[in-house]
Amino acid sequence: MKKQFLDLGKQPIANGFLYKDQINDEYFFNLKVAFDEKTKLFTQIEYVDPPLMFNDNYVYRGSLSKTMRDHFKNFSLTLGNNKKILEIGSNDGVFIKNFDPKNTISVEPCGNFARETQNMGYTTYDEFWTQDLANKILINHGKQDIIFAANCICHIPDLDQTFKAVKSLLSEDGTFIFEDPSLAEVINNNSYDQIYDEHPHIFSVISLDNLLQRNGLQVVKVDNLEVHGGSNRIYAKKIGSKVDKTVEQNKSYERILGLDKFETFERFAEKVKQSKNDLIRILKQCKKEGKKVISYGATSKSTTIFNYCNINSDLISYITDTTPEKQGKLSPGTHIPVISPEEGFNESVDFAYLGAWNFINEISKKEDNFLANGGKFITHVPIVKII
Ligand code: TYD
Repeated sequence: MKKQFLDLGKQPIANGFLYKDQINDEYFFNLKVAFDEKTKLFTQIEYVDPPLMFNDNYVYRGSLSKTMRDHFKNFSLTLGNNKKILEIGSNDGVFIKNFDPKNTISVEPCGNFARETQNMGYTTYDEFWTQDLANKILINHGKQDIIFAANCICHIPDLDQTFKAVKSLLSEDGTFIFEDPSLAEVINNNSYDQIYDEHPHIFSVISLDNLLQRNGLQVVKVDNLEVHGGSNRIYAKKIGSKVDKTVEQNKSYERILGLDKFETFERFAEKVKQSKNDLIRILKQCKKEGKKVISYGATSKSTTIFNYCNINSDLISYITDTTPEKQGKLSPGTHIPVISPEEGFNESVDFAYLGAWNFINEISKKEDNFLANGGKFITHVPIVKII
């Protein structure tokens, strides 16, 4: 049974960057967050229909950040190149391109990106992950040794169907490896901006093991990762496999944080409201003092923040982002212009709100001149502050 603890209000499609003439047709939904007492899953009340988010106009490009390119390259080296690998949600190929196309299959429902991996020589199914697709791949390519997914499984509303389909395509000793933002880190960092349409769930290891086990799989190992503000890489195998000590270590840490209890999330909701008030206060103060504030990184995460806190171009002049597909458009819901860093990140900027706070190391290194010249970053993670 789902129990609601947080209402983030009316929200648009988080990656739905749009042109002015599309404003009247913009889609909104109610972003309400709940805890499922049975599975301990942190989940939304109302799921957005996936084709509204993942289609041929999808703009998120994984390989734009060096952090993510290095992350996937390094992990691919540990897997070797002689296994049959399938990736669910291969985006622009940032992970899969490290493997030989002969043994590799991509699944990507966003046609623009599916065409890219297809052109790179990878067999790509331009479809959502379903049991029907798993059956088709089984007939065409046989069972797989590794099924991998990064920042994708938490995008899928129906987890039972997803895990059943994975199990049916895994070889007997095969491993399902997937990484997604960690609920423990979201709670520790008060990073409520990880909650948006594309993240219908945020996973604890406890909830994942409950869900996997009722579909014939179990968590056998967990890697804690720094990417995306703190993620977990989950290794799952068929039930009865050897279980590494990292599974119980993570679960007992999560029990200490109270991730198996509704009250923890009621407290989290209070902190979210506080964070909203603090951020609005800082931005209004900057405006009063005549400072120029922009946002750095047009992220899905900042869509949640800007819409929940009612932050528009009155408080943030514009957003800079390196993604060509986002530039020249407006941010979803609050319609702040998005421009390239070359155009907008210059001496005129006093403060830059870190929409991409999860890349703070990469950004601070790159923007050392901005900091040296007195520019400052604003973040809300883990508390609202000026850096
Ligand atoms: P990410 O944090 O992965 O976004 P999301 O919340 O949508 O998952 O994306 C980072 C965004 O920030 C992406 O649009 C690229 C942009 N970006 C910059 O503009 N400059 C940078 O230096 C970095 C690292 C990212």
